[in-house]
Order: sequence, then structure tokens, then C-alpha cells
Amino acid sequence: MSAPRNEALPAGITRAADYEALARQRLDPVAWQYLHDGSGSGLTLAANRRAFDRVTLMPRVLADVRGGHTRLDLFGQALEHPIVLAPIAYQRLFHPDGEQASAMAAAAQGGAMWISSLASQPLQAIADASRQTGGAAPGFQLYWQGERERTLRLARRAEAGGCPIMLFTLDAPVKLATLDLPGGIGAVNLEAPLALVPPGAGRSQVFDGWMAQAPTWDDLAWLRDSTRLPLLVKGILHPDDAERAIALGCDGIVVSNHGGRVLDGAAASLDLLPPIVARVNGRVPVLLDSGIRDGRDVFKALALGATAVLLGRPAIWGLAQAGALGVAHVIRLLRDELEATMALSGCRTLADISADCIGA
Ligand code: FNR
Repeated sequence: MSAPRNEALPAGITRAADYEALARQRLDPVAWQYLHDGSGSGLTLAANRRAFDRVTLMPRVLADVRGGHTRLDLFGQALEHPIVLAPIAYQRLFHPDGEQASAMAAAAQGGAMWISSLASQPLQAIADASRQTGGAAPGFQLYWQGERERTLRLARRAEAGGCPIMLFTLDAPVKLATLDLPGGIGAVNLEAPLALVPPGAGRSQVFDGWMAQAPTWDDLAWLRDSTRLPLLVKGILHPDDAERAIALGCDGIVVSNHGGRVLDGAAASLDLLPPIVARVNGRVPVLLDSGIRDGRDVFKALALGATAVLLGRPAIWGLAQAGALGVAHVIRLLRDELEATMALSGCRTLADISADCIGA
């Protein structure tokens, strides 16, 4: 791993969002655009933020919260807090230390990071960085590899690397965004991509081209039978889909609209969380991402029924500015805000956070 570019944290940072402008200045414009953009006109990207802003908090006074904490057990892992680093592709685009820096930061903060199928560093190297910082091996985010055998080979590599969790992302079967990666940066854990067979005259590129290589419910059932790891599905927005995934034996649901990067016009994932939590009814943990920017947002997601959250872009703003130190700082800022929000809401532990703690 190369030496971090920045040893010191920038002065004057008081919240994770302060890193956004710094990252924008520092990153190559193409990398910035890739990081920032939603798809289409950014409707869903904006909706994610509005949803959090609409939820109001309900202060409670004189509560004795001494001895409080944010610890939880998540799929067998003891974590200090419920903020997991979301799988984000090609992290060496943002800092030469890439995914290893994120893994170190997550471990140093007593939390978890989940590795993207499109990671720009070898799985084993990322897992080692986490272990050397005192953490567990990160979970692995699986993208369908066009067919079962290729997908299974990738899943087996993650299992062999000691990844304790398989997170299968379902919401991005069609790649709408293309990115010209700079030389030396690529998805190093994948085999060469399967050639897209041209659909033929009069046939649809979407239905007969891309979607011909996309997974179906049968493939999810097959994957469930093919791995013994806890299997989570990411990108669920409808209660019926959550129900079906649980019926197939999935161990967790991540309510997510991919940070507004796939189907522009989809509702905010926070708005769709309560009906899914109601349907799941405690059978498996429900996690949430898309739009989390501070510790109050984490609190709101938990109040609406999430067990934990995934943090996307803000962690990468910190990574771009100051490598592992920057990511760790972003996590710490969110943790501090979460603790303060809990204290001011009369909550000692995460279990105390409920719908009674919010006003909307
Ligand atoms: C992502 N996301 C993503 N998700 C996934 O399952 N596999 C991946 O490889 C990626 N890659 C990726 C790259 C970039 C640049 C971004 C911003 C996002 C989605 C990610 O895991 C998460 O769902 C969102 O980032 C959450 O939204 P916020 O926190 O960025 O608003």
C-alpha cells in the first residue's frame, strides 16, 4: 500500500458534509462526476435528502443515559456502531490507498465495511488491511456475473478470502452509466466480462441484450442454496420483494435506491422503509442506505425501523481528502452525532430508538 498522501486532517471540519467541497476540489472532474451523480436528472438523489429533512426529532429531557452506547451485533459481528461502509466501486479512483484505506478506517472505528464486486484492489489485500487494524474480514457485495458458474466462482473467492457476509445487489442489472477508467484502475477481482451478444435485428438491447444476462428469482434461490454465508439482498424497495427474498431464505434486506444512481424517479429509500419493516416484522434485520449524511440521519433511519445503515458518498469524500484518516474521521463524526442525538432524545442504547423518538 502506498503512503497516504495526507497525514493530517484538514482544519475546520465539523461535519462529514464539509468534506464534500474538499473532495470536489481535489478529485479529477471525471472521478468527481462518477462519485456524485445520480442517474437522469437527479430526482431520486434529491428525494433521498428531502426524506431525511422531513423527519423531525423529539427531544426528551432529564433522561439518565449514563453508560449508554451504540453497540450492536450484526450477522454475528460485534460492532461498536451501526454505520457500515457501503460497497463502492473502484476506490483507487478517489485515493491511491483505495479500498484498503476504507477497510482500515472501518476497523479502527470498530465497524464494518463491505467490499464491492468492482473493488480496485485484491480481496485478500483489503481483508488483510482490515485484520491488521484489528477488524474482521469485510463482507462481500456480489454483482451477478452474467451466468451462474461465473457468479459462483466470484462468490467462492470471497468465501475463500474469509468474507463473513454475502451482500447480493439486485437493483442494478442494467448498467446505465459507463465510466472510462484511468489506466491501472479496474475491477481486479473479476474475470474478463462476458461478451454481450448483440440481440439481433428487431430485438431489444434492453430485454434481449442486457437483461438476458441479469439474474432472476430462480437465480437468487440457487445462490441461497450455493453459499452458507449469511445472504443479504441490497436494493429492495417493495414489501413484496422483501417477502419473497425472505421466503427464499435470505438473512437480511437492504432498503436502498443505490444512492439515486439507478432508477431516477424512484422514491426515497427512507420513505419506503416503514412498509418494508412492517412486512418483515422482525424476521430478519432490515438495513437502509441512500442519503445518510450525518448521525441524525442514522438516528432517523433506526427510529423508522432500520437495524443499521450503509454510508456511501460521505465516506468517499473523506477518502479523497485524507485516505484512511479521512474515512475514519467521517465515521467518527457520524458516531458522535448519533450519540449526541441519542442522549438528547433520551436513548441509552440503539434498542431505545423507536418511532416515538421522531415527530414525523
Ligand atoms: C455505489 N454503490 C454501489 N453499490 C453496490 O452494491 N456495488 C457497487 O459497486 C457500488 N458502487 C458505487 C459507486 C459509487 C461511486 C457510489 C456513489 C455508489 C451504491 C452504494 O453501495 C450505496 O447504495 C449508495 O452510495 C448509498 O447512497 P449514498 O450514501 O451515497 O447517498
